Amino acid sequence: MDKVLIWDWPVRIGHWLLVGAFALAWITGESEEWRLVHAFAGGTVVGVILFRLLWGLVGTRHARFASFVRGPRAVLGYVLGLLRRDESHYAGHNAAGGWAIVALLSLGLLTGASGWLVYQDSGGEWLEEVHEALASGMLGVALLHVVGVVVSSLAHRENLVRAMFTGLKQGRHDEAIANSRPLTVVLLLGWVALCAWWLTR
Ligand code: HEM
Repeated sequence: MDKVLIWDWPVRIGHWLLVGAFALAWITGESEEWRLVHAFAGGTVVGVILFRLLWGLVGTRHARFASFVRGPRAVLGYVLGLLRRDESHYAGHNAAGGWAIVALLSLGLLTGASGWLVYQDSGGEWLEEVHEALASGMLGVALLHVVGVVVSSLAHRENLVRAMFTGLKQGRHDEAIANSRPLTVVLLLGWVALCAWWLTR
């Protein structure tokens, strides 16, 4: 197998924007002084996720949900394969990682929606508790996701974190995407800025 292009630009930029925005929202979450920055970071999280949902339908091959959201049998097969140390390799997301991604996107949206309501001063203290619980749940799944990334990187002897920067992974030439869609990043950034502005206005 050679190194071939698997992750397009919107997937890579979106991923690291999501990581940075979630980290910033987490750090600023407890402080009244940083409320606007917190809301802006939360708006960025929501913007990236809404874009990613659309990209999961119309994006390049390995970005599409249909290519990586698989049934429980495939997930179990992947996990058992890891334990048996077999060499099954996924060009895109593996079957277990796919569900971590679905959980992260869902939790990110719910956290953002509850945060927006809190920001509008609606819902009261119980909603604040719900918002914090959702954010903690998201952090927990993100930590599991990072453990999963490290385990699969070791199991497949491939640096998956580097792949999320370069877009290149081990694969066959017929698994590669033809275009990395750099111009779509302009749309992504414009859309995210609009969401962050709209949610904090
Ligand atoms: C709040 C923190 C994080 C969130 C919400 C998050 C979310 C995601 C999402 C949604 C994807 C799917 C990418 C896509 O198809 O668009 C993904 C993939 C990935 N993430 Fe993260 N991530 C987080 C933290 C991290 C960190 C800290 C690392 C690095 C250590 C990391 C490494 C990766 C890698 C390598 C992949 C690709 C996995 C694969 O090859 O299947 N993530 N992440």
